Amino acid sequence: MSTQKVLWLPKIGAQFTLGRNAIPEPSPGEARVTLKASALNHMDIKEYPIPPNLSYEEAASILIAFAPFAVATYAQRPQGIALTPPFEEGGLGKYAGRPIVIFGGAASVGQQAIQLATLSGFSPVITTASLHHEDLLLSLGATHVIDRKLPNGALIKRVRELVVAPLGYIFDAVSIKDTQHAGYALLAPGGTLAVVGPPQVGREDDGSGKQVTMVLGSFHLPPNRALGATFAIALTRWLQEGKIKSNRVEVVPGGLNGVMPGLRQLARGVSATKLVVCPPETIYV
Ligand SMILES: NC(=O)c1ccc[n+]([C@@H]2O[C@H](COP(=O)([O-])OP(=O)(O)OC[C@H]3O[C@@H](n4cnc5c(N)ncnc54)[C@H](OP(=O)(O)O)[C@@H]3O)[C@@H](O)[C@H]2O)c1
Repeated sequence: MSTQKVLWLPKIGAQFTLGRNAIPEPSPGEARVTLKASALNHMDIKEYPIPPNLSYEEAASILIAFAPFAVATYAQRPQGIALTPPFEEGGLGKYAGRPIVIFGGAASVGQQAIQLATLSGFSPVITTASLHHEDLLLSLGATHVIDRKLPNGALIKRVRELVVAPLGYIFDAVSIKDTQHAGYALLAPGGTLAVVGPPQVGREDDGSGKQVTMVLGSFHLPPNRALGATFAIALTRWLQEGKIKSNRVEVVPGGLNGVMPGLRQLARGVSATKLVVCPPETIYV
């Protein structure tokens, strides 16, 4: 069997090693070519997607949690409300003095929403969560954490005590009936309530001009791609600088065998953490 020289990359981040392997025989319709020379490229040495201070597990948790608020807030209408993103000229801190309520601050989506809202300057940043998550959420930028188990009437009263300016934008990272009702009641006329699941309020025009929009938090949708490309650059920098923190992650053991138990755990409910599976850990039996 004739062999050829090859350069192996045993794993990501490792050194190239020289070796040999069999020269494959071309199938009908294929041709065998001899490589005489190859130009070296910067792409061969640069390290992308992930900043060095982030594990693969943390990196895996980011985008799905980050995109909903990013799209709802900064994408062009009707996908979002077209605010200036914090990486654009004049966008950082631009919305100082505008209050925001984020339902479900401890949810993965909520944690990223709090951090982006803080970069945008919203103040106060009011969120609802179990109070044992208060320290975590204050560290992410929330200014007030309200007990998520309060009845809606008490919760609405507490928010109203905290805001002075009209609540023109509310983001609901939970989007069950109760949170949507509270969000809609708190919203100022003409404001927007962004929900991450099917809207259950505001389906009939009540003359208030309140908008309820369901966010599709994906940068892969054609209208969101340009925003996603610029966010990817800013997000990498913010993660590196510690301006955005990844979610807490919990690795479900067993690699791909962990997917089903992980989904069952997700259905039972997780608290301020993102479940992650690592396919290379899969053991074949
Ligand atoms: N539309 C989209 O593009 C999109 C994209 C991603 C996710 N989603 C949706 O967004 C939602 C959140 O996803 P996720 O991954 O962030 O969820 P998650 O992290 O699994 O959410 C769990 C967290 O939600 C908190 N929570 C539950 N009920 C609450 C309530 N009534 N008020 C306040 N907090 C409450 C829990 O609090 P405790 O800690 O107190 O238990 C827990 O910390 C899901 O419904 C998901 O399907 C939508």
